Amino acid sequence: MADDFRHLRLDRDARGVATVSFDVQGAPVNVFNDEVIRDLGQVVERLERDPPRVVAFRSAKPSGFLAGADVHRIRRLESEPEVRAVLTAGHGLFDRVERLARDDAQTRLGLPEVTLGLIPGWGGTQRLPRLVGLRQALRMILEGTALSATKAAAAGLVDRTAPPDDFETAVTRFLDEVPAGRPVRRPGRGLLGAVFDGTGPGRALVFAIARKRVAGRGRDYPALPAALRAIEAGVRGPRAAGFAAECDEFVRVVFTPAAHNLIEVFLQRERARSRSTWVPGGPQPVPVRKVAVVGAGVMGAGITQLVALAGVPVAMKDVADEIVAGGMKKVESLTADAVGKGAITREAAGAAQHNVTATTEWGPLAGADVAVEAVVEREDVKREVFRQLAEALGDSAVLASNTSALSVTRLAAVTPHPARVAGLHFFNPVHRMQLVEVVRGRDTGDGTVATLVEFVRKLGKVPVVVADSPGFLVNRILFPYLDEAVRLVLDGVPGEEVDRAAVRFGMPVGPLELLDQVGVDIAADVSGALAPLRGGDPGPAPERFAAMARDGALGRKAGRGFYEYRGARRGRPTPWSTPTRPRPVPRGSGAGEFGEVQKRLIYPMINEAARCLEGGVVGEAWVVDLAMVLGTGYAPFRGGPLRTADALGVVAVVRDLDVLRGAYGDRFGVATILRAKAGDGRGFYADGAPVREHEEVRR
Ligand code: NAI
Repeated sequence: MADDFRHLRLDRDARGVATVSFDVQGAPVNVFNDEVIRDLGQVVERLERDPPRVVAFRSAKPSGFLAGADVHRIRRLESEPEVRAVLTAGHGLFDRVERLARDDAQTRLGLPEVTLGLIPGWGGTQRLPRLVGLRQALRMILEGTALSATKAAAAGLVDRTAPPDDFETAVTRFLDEVPAGRPVRRPGRGLLGAVFDGTGPGRALVFAIARKRVAGRGRDYPALPAALRAIEAGVRGPRAAGFAAECDEFVRVVFTPAAHNLIEVFLQRERARSRSTWVPGGPQPVPVRKVAVVGAGVMGAGITQLVALAGVPVAMKDVADEIVAGGMKKVESLTADAVGKGAITREAAGAAQHNVTATTEWGPLAGADVAVEAVVEREDVKREVFRQLAEALGDSAVLASNTSALSVTRLAAVTPHPARVAGLHFFNPVHRMQLVEVVRGRDTGDGTVATLVEFVRKLGKVPVVVADSPGFLVNRILFPYLDEAVRLVLDGVPGEEVDRAAVRFGMPVGPLELLDQVGVDIAADVSGALAPLRGGDPGPAPERFAAMARDGALGRKAGRGFYEYRGARRGRPTPWSTPTRPRPVPRGSGAGEFGEVQKRLIYPMINEAARCLEGGVVGEAWVVDLAMVLGTGYAPFRGGPLRTADALGVVAVVRDLDVLRGAYGDRFGVATILRAKAGDGRGFYADGAPVREHEEVRR
């Protein structure tokens, strides 16, 4: 017997098992929207009228169970009563269900709302602590981290797991057992759990620690303290009070600028992952069944590992046996790390390793559909590699360069089919950075772009298509900021203060520490390659980098750069970030504004972002913003540099830049498009950016 709703199907069988299957129409993954909630409400009503012994909720989609609430719907929420209505509808529905999860690499269980600037709004802050214990619930909700099926079972979030092959049998067995009254065994919490989750003083301590942890970040990410308050209300008070607190806290955060910007970033990421964004109605991508990677260094090994993990055979080539062996070691250790972190299973790791061939010859590369070149950043070497690749791979392969700053158009020119050549700029470390720039050279064909965009998606990354110009998009915008950090030290501001100013703005690390991570030698190359954008004047940074290189202060990999390092741990500043002259730079300015140091760091990025738009490196503001958030960690709650300009007000930004230009010279000259936006009083986004209520001075 089956009842069909638009998005759900209700089946009952002779054992008294009712199965509700989710298949949300018009969506690739199951999400909760108003219609689904309505369907579900009707299903529950029907079940209540004629209760079965067990209800099983499952997905009829291969893409998994449920991705959560429809983010588009959240974005359209306009008023507090509307928000409350949606929350109440959800609260009414989600009551206790037994939990069985498919144990494969794709299964992730979590409450990722804080990554959207929200808190769980359908009872998650109330139910999760009861299910998995207070400490685990705080970790999951405040960090937005998801658990694999196995970890979720260990935590008590799911009752049982079953591997994909055995899933249907396991579901049937489970459904038979539940009506038979066999109790589900929940994991114990251990002594620590009993103390911290089970006693008043224990819980008070856990909350105190959590409050301290989110304290500094609450202004930028108001969802963190809000989630904490909701959880605390649920743990300390009666059930109804907890749910009411959750509702109030959700209402409090849903209209904040942070939630607006983080939701935008989420939707932009979805948009970037859609091929039609980049090649509307264009040619179909070529399926990638084999990949060649040339260069087994830091980037080559990282890319090889990524491709292998995506299930695609990959041949990695370098010039000498010992280098190839070193590359293989890197691939293996990246894979082992992923297993260690629980990101992939041991079986998946074995399969990935099996996909890799390492070689010093061109022969094994034959038959690859895509080649990624990641050899040293020298044009003569890369040109030779492209010539050889074109010969070894034949006419139909797509050839891509991972160059940071060389011209893709010039590399393409040495091959017989420049239409099949493009840039494919991964970021370091490859396994962690979500962004990949797909660089369109002058002659790159739409088919090539389509193939590479699809390839990047398959690797689980986010593609942005950019034009071929020095530094492409992200480095071009990032380096004026890094350069300015170096200038600030030369102008007398201690490096630690420079970094602190950037972190207070919302950057994950300061610019000097970032330079240490990138490597001062690599930074020197990129910074030099960008000089043409500055009228040929490279400024003092490249020379400073060269001096550091002579001193062996190459950054983290050398144990010393702008800071000292012990392993990955940052230590004291070195003389390279210690000024030798007194500071002329003022410490801050009036309330409601950024300090001078912050302005000197952030405004060059805003200005260069505007220039990228003006020069057609990309077509729309959102692409710039998304790329900067994903490629550099640019303060996500601010939504990107152009969003920042809108939030500060383009008129104010232009006024400030004019002042900076007067004080420091032409490098602060206002981008034409920025002045034009200021002229007509509108920002980069039609929806306008919500202005932060109290933009405090951050010193
Ligand atoms: P790396 O120095 O670690 O590796 C380069 C590898 O290329 C070396 O193993 C070298 O033996 C090999 N090689 C040199 N000539 C070759 C040839 N003719 N055939 C085959 N292999 C050859 O350099 P890394 O950092 O991996 O950079 C590679 C490329 O990626 C460069 O173009 C760089 O600009 C770019 N890139 C680097 C990033 C980084 O942060 N390291 C970030 C993004 C791009």
